[in-house]
Amino acid sequence: MTFTPSVAADWPRVHTDLPGPRSRSILDRKDAVLQGPLRDAENVPFVLGRKYGHLLEDVDGNVFADHVSAWGAAPYGAQPPLVRDAVTRTWDRYGMEISQYLASEPVVALAERLVALAPGAITRAAPTVTGTEAVEGAVKLAREATGRPIILGFLGQYHGESTYLTASVSTDMPGNTSGIAQYVPGVVLIPYPQSFRAPFHEGPGPYDDTLCLDYLRDWVLRYQVEPSQIAGVLIEPVAGEAGILTPSQAFWDRLTSMCRQYGWKLLLDEVQTGLGRCGTVFAAERWGLEPDLLLVGKGVTGGGQAVAGVLGTDEMMAESTTHLGGTYAWEPAACAGAIAGLDLLADGTVLANTRELEAIALEHFTPLVDEIDQLGDARAIGAWACLEFVTERGSVEPAPEFQHAVNLAAMRRGVFAISEASKPLYRLQPALTMEPELFRWSCEQIAAAVREVARG
Ligand SMILES: Cc1ncc(COP(=O)(O)O)c(C=O)c1O
Repeated sequence: MTFTPSVAADWPRVHTDLPGPRSRSILDRKDAVLQGPLRDAENVPFVLGRKYGHLLEDVDGNVFADHVSAWGAAPYGAQPPLVRDAVTRTWDRYGMEISQYLASEPVVALAERLVALAPGAITRAAPTVTGTEAVEGAVKLAREATGRPIILGFLGQYHGESTYLTASVSTDMPGNTSGIAQYVPGVVLIPYPQSFRAPFHEGPGPYDDTLCLDYLRDWVLRYQVEPSQIAGVLIEPVAGEAGILTPSQAFWDRLTSMCRQYGWKLLLDEVQTGLGRCGTVFAAERWGLEPDLLLVGKGVTGGGQAVAGVLGTDEMMAESTTHLGGTYAWEPAACAGAIAGLDLLADGTVLANTRELEAIALEHFTPLVDEIDQLGDARAIGAWACLEFVTERGSVEPAPEFQHAVNLAAMRRGVFAISEASKPLYRLQPALTMEPELFRWSCEQIAAAVREVARG
């Protein structure tokens, strides 16, 4: 299957105020019936009418370039024909089925395809529906394999929404853990390495992100927990929700050497980074990482139906008796959609496209950091980019109002991206297949929006 990026037939255009009248009326109904956090229409002031290609249209007929792509779960655009055909054909044949009780061929085929793609000595798979369940499964497997209780996590990472994960390792927002953190023992945390808000860095001079591991060695392992009590290290190869942060090769070399020294299992959370997002099939490839457990979600769906899972080595999974999954995990049609997505990814054109998107993002946003005082940093890897706004040049103090204004200005120009009130991060997470022309145009609109807001 060849993927050929081409200019979309249609183009973004916004012809009403946001929200438009139809959106307004549905948002009012939403406000009356949904749970608190879902009532907020501040950051997304419109209601989805339909999606096609890499565009979405609201119920008032406004069209936006889609830089959210279902938070990465629609990696090949709205309805990739190969995925749609595979899902419907397989559903026609098998209907809904509970795959952990009754096997069908698509389940086995998906497991075979994923372990063949995975780095290192990965040979096995365990089905889940969500990334959250995959992370929880990995924690269970690491404890089972080692007989040790503690998981080492990193501040700023996000791993999912279960009570256990939000209370312990999903530390991307302090409000998440309120009222529940104290009920979840068994986790120690150190800062995730990053050069913008560099932990332990006294600068000036280049930042050495292995300082976080000095802290682990000199403080955590000395005063808080013995290395022999740690079952595994749970880490995202690129921290997504914390703002597309990319540790150095030296960091990975030292961390994996500590894993070998102390018998810690490497639990690599590729729910967000995996399946092409970072320009390689798995982000692990960029640093030669060989995880014991590798977690997949989002992009693995191919944009069809919900699929996530734990991949692991024979040592971790062959003789395991830990139960994972659930009623809906890897129902056959979802597996067939995921396999069709892997066929699209296998082509190679998709990965080349993500790397082109990375180059376009850097070309537009890196000079903007020098130009605009309130743009503290801009980062990109693969089809993923992040702008971090600050109050003034040289400061790392977040500027949420500036960011919010940029988000609205970009939306008025037809660009829909990720901007949450609780995080000082404006992010682009388009489909891997977004046409470079549409992506370039979107970056230009964002740059114009930033200039507009900076001018006041
Ligand atoms: C790195 C990472 N792990 C786990 C999850 C949780 O996945 P899900 O939302 O499918 O439960 C996410 C979701 O954003 C994620 O980014």
